[in-house]
Amino acid sequence: VVDISKLYAQTGMFTYDPGFTSTASCESEITYIDGDKGVLLYRGYPIEQLAEQGDFLETSYLLLYGELPTPAQRADWVHRITRHTMVHEQLARFFQGFRRDAHPMAVLVASVGALSAFYHDSTNISEPKQRMVASMRLIAKLPTLAAMAYKYSIGQPFVYPKNELDYTSNFLRMCFAVPCEDYKVNPVLARALDQIFILHADHEQNASTSTVRLAGSSGANPFACIAAGVACLWGPAHGGANEAALKMLEEIGSVDNIPKYIARAKDKNDSFRLMGFGHRVYKNYDPRAKLMQKTCHAVLEAVGKKDDPLLDVAMELEHIALHDEYFIEKKLYPNIDFYSGITLKAMGFPTSMFTVLFAVARTAGWVAQWKEMIEDPSQKIGRPRQLYTGAAERLYVPIDQR
Ligand code: ACO
Repeated sequence: VVDISKLYAQTGMFTYDPGFTSTASCESEITYIDGDKGVLLYRGYPIEQLAEQGDFLETSYLLLYGELPTPAQRADWVHRITRHTMVHEQLARFFQGFRRDAHPMAVLVASVGALSAFYHDSTNISEPKQRMVASMRLIAKLPTLAAMAYKYSIGQPFVYPKNELDYTSNFLRMCFAVPCEDYKVNPVLARALDQIFILHADHEQNASTSTVRLAGSSGANPFACIAAGVACLWGPAHGGANEAALKMLEEIGSVDNIPKYIARAKDKNDSFRLMGFGHRVYKNYDPRAKLMQKTCHAVLEAVGKKDDPLLDVAMELEHIALHDEYFIEKKLYPNIDFYSGITLKAMGFPTSMFTVLFAVARTAGWVAQWKEMIEDPSQKIGRPRQLYTGAAERLYVPIDQR
């Protein structure tokens, strides 16, 4: 009988790092985070500058190609993305198979995966041109699929893309236009959503991006890999936290109740946590949260909800927590999810769409990371080891002797 501990001794050294808190899984040139200083860079550019001066399509180009586009490259990129916004008409029929109350994320996971059946030409990942076509198709079609998932969930007809609009205005129109009424995109909301997309576009090796890379390392096609990323993002500890933060603010309800919730968050015997606070990597203010706070103010003003009591609760909660010893000592600061729920709600999105919007934005990062992984000559199939803690080798017992 083999002694398992001796077996491990023979296999040489390996590390045991649950949750990969201190293990790098790859080399990457795409995104840099300094969690102690609260710095986030895409290809070296600070997130603040990209969010304030750039736009989402330009950011997608930067993530994929490594450089900001020249005016000619930008015009070509926008044109190519715009030309790929339609999905195959048969895909619309695929939607009819879902229950009418299906969660839009369930529909999105399935429809993104289904793209591989409709665009078989770009499943050939050994062709550099096809890798780029697949990346463009994904960035271009995700808003269309996301809007279709939303329309389906509320029983309204799909709205086809209108390609003379910019990326985000087109998406807002596909979500909110109805056939019997004129719909004009509010430019303040379009700009705000575009900034939200920039803030969510990439965040190095988070759970969903690592999922995309792991799926891609086996040679799976890009549509299947991104569907895996969407599935991972759906979890409440990842893409679902903004919904939890909004629910918490609604539950707190008024600034008078804040001390009670702060006390609960500090109580070791209470599992309650302040949602939208704390981050695995940021031990300082999440730079995206600061930008999101500004965006939140702009959106509330644009929709005439400047005096939203939820915003008062959020701002007071932030103020109290930032001056509280417990939060200071544990380095707990607001993260991107703290203000995004209030902002998206004010734009008219139901909570079931929050993670869907995150997926639209993160697709840019996922495809850039997938492409970088495929093109890395040192790339191997991802195959984590384990620390076996089960039974030692033992003899099979025939059924009549058990
Ligand atoms: N409220 C109160 N206490 C907290 C909070 C919080 N939001 N977050 C962490 N703490 C405390 C923990 O109780 C722990 O205390 P202890 O040292 O006395 O045991 C300490 O701070 C460290 O917490 P960990 O959970 O070990 O830190 P980790 O880095 O693993 O977790 C996480 C980070 C999951 C984000 C955590 O801060 C949290 O649960 N926050 C609330 C949920 C949230 O906002 N998630 C969104 C993350 S951003 C994103 O995914 C886009």
